[in-house]
Amino acid sequence: MPTLSLKSRSGLRFIWLEETASTNDYLRLHSKEMQDPITLALAEYQTKGRGATGAWQSERGANLLFSLLTHPTTVEAKDIFLLSQMACLSVCRGLETLSKGFTIKWPNDIYWRDGKVVGILIENELQGRRVADCVVGIGVNVNQRSFGKELPNPTSLAIIEGRELDRTLVLEAIVEEFSSLYTALCEGDHEGIREGYLKRLYRRGERHAFCDSRGEFMATLETVEPTGHIVLRDDEGRWRRYAFKEVQHII
Ligand code: BTN
Repeated sequence: MPTLSLKSRSGLRFIWLEETASTNDYLRLHSKEMQDPITLALAEYQTKGRGATGAWQSERGANLLFSLLTHPTTVEAKDIFLLSQMACLSVCRGLETLSKGFTIKWPNDIYWRDGKVVGILIENELQGRRVADCVVGIGVNVNQRSFGKELPNPTSLAIIEGRELDRTLVLEAIVEEFSSLYTALCEGDHEGIREGYLKRLYRRGERHAFCDSRGEFMATLETVEPTGHIVLRDDEGRWRRYAFKEVQHII
């Protein structure tokens, strides 16, 4: 019996799973037979939940673990970072309808102050120069209050708000924004999505510590390019441009 449901929305198929290895893997496995504009698979527990750098751990039934499958064939491979920006922006805007102070930490985490509330894992399948399938995996820490020591800066909506939250409300708020931004993306509103992402960027325009393969340094986060590269200006006035995983914030 599903413990969570979603009001039916045109063009959105909802799949509830008591347990699965990973909702991203589930949708990737079934992507060819799922051709609705948006298919959402949600699990109460994942036995092999994946994050960008390792496993994604989550207490059973406490949080939101879901993935959204789309087929953004109008998006060209060179614009693939737009899908990350759209996903981050929709989660951030969804959470903003419930509370304030969320930001997007490059490339695709959602933060509240210096704590990570949401992790996003995006996996695309290209067909020639176009994106045939895009799976956006979203893990929202909703009602979990204690986390493993190995996790970087975790927090949850319950810790932020000081009360337990209704997971359905959080899910609906995010999915609402995702549906409308996905339509905007397909209609070509690339600039609106890029602007919304940059406007919410964690520590943008501020001087902070970073770390690259050569060690720690202080720099100001200037921008994120449409390609997804982050652009920093260090204390010597040098511009530094990095791809995903080449540099990290020190928090
Ligand atoms: C990160 O490392 O920050 C990304 C975490 C993404 C976790 C979500 S939970 C739902 C979906 N299924 C997965 O296996 N991973 C994503």
